Amino acid sequence: MTKRFDGKVALITGAGGGIGHSVVTKLVEGGARVALADVSAESAERMSAEIQAGGGQAIALPGDLTDGDYCDSLPGLVVEALGGLDILINNAGLMRRGPVTEASDEDFALSMAVNVEAPFRLVRAAIPLMEKAGGGTIVNTASCWGLYPGPDHLVYCTTKAAIAAMTRCLGRDHAHQNIRVNAVCPNEVNTPMLRTGFSIRGLDPDTAIADLNATVPLGRIAEPEDIADVIAFLASDDSRYMCGALLEVNGAKPVF
Ligand SMILES: NC(=O)c1ccc[n+]([C@@H]2O[C@H](COP(=O)([O-])OP(=O)(O)OC[C@H]3O[C@@H](n4cnc5c(N)ncnc54)[C@H](O)[C@@H]3O)[C@@H](O)[C@H]2O)c1
Repeated sequence: MTKRFDGKVALITGAGGGIGHSVVTKLVEGGARVALADVSAESAERMSAEIQAGGGQAIALPGDLTDGDYCDSLPGLVVEALGGLDILINNAGLMRRGPVTEASDEDFALSMAVNVEAPFRLVRAAIPLMEKAGGGTIVNTASCWGLYPGPDHLVYCTTKAAIAAMTRCLGRDHAHQNIRVNAVCPNEVNTPMLRTGFSIRGLDPDTAIADLNATVPLGRIAEPEDIADVIAFLASDDSRYMCGALLEVNGAKPVF
């Protein structure tokens, strides 16, 4: 039986994280060959070994997305290793919290480097390769918090607004090359990013998530799979007429 990602090669950043791991699983289940990028070489290599043990094709290309040379070279390395690059998932990200008066230079520089500059470098390198191959799809992980002002997250919201704007520009500029660029905009998702945030603030993550669940009209915050399914949809031909879309996936919970 043909699967929806048969013959496709995908590069996923933040592959070892909560949403990233789930996206990788869905792409592999769909028949894709995957290149796993993460700052944690251990998680990228372990996942790659697990996929290969299960009969899939994967390669770990770990590195730090604050390294411009690494970002610039990554799409080409994927083509060399797996013979193409059809899908780029810009998923890696980090969150620094607090209002502007508490934000350090390092908070701003690091957040911009990982959440904005890295996707910029990756798409800049990937688009010519995709164009040469006749097209491709790019999915960015933005956030509802980049579309609306989430409280006391100035730096994070600014970076996610930037990736949302980038998505719209790319969707507009590269459709004529058969390259579709879209973004998913989640609200809260039950991942290490959210859970460690609670721990840092001295809260028990399970209790804090139970409290958050009560604020969502659908009754719970998102699990990584809820977001990964939408990313896989945007990466697949099922979304073939979508370009520059920012898909809010929020269980009906507004940012307030
Ligand atoms: N969890 C949420 O509530 C939520 C909500 C909206 C959007 N998002 C976005 O979803 C994406 C995935 O986040 P997640 O929730 O799965 O978090 P996560 O912390 O589980 O995963 C983030 C991944 O990014 C990687 N990463 C971070 N800095 C890196 C660097 N310098 N170089 C290379 N890799 C690096 C981490 O190693 C990790 O694997 C992020 O872009 C995040 O902003 C998350």
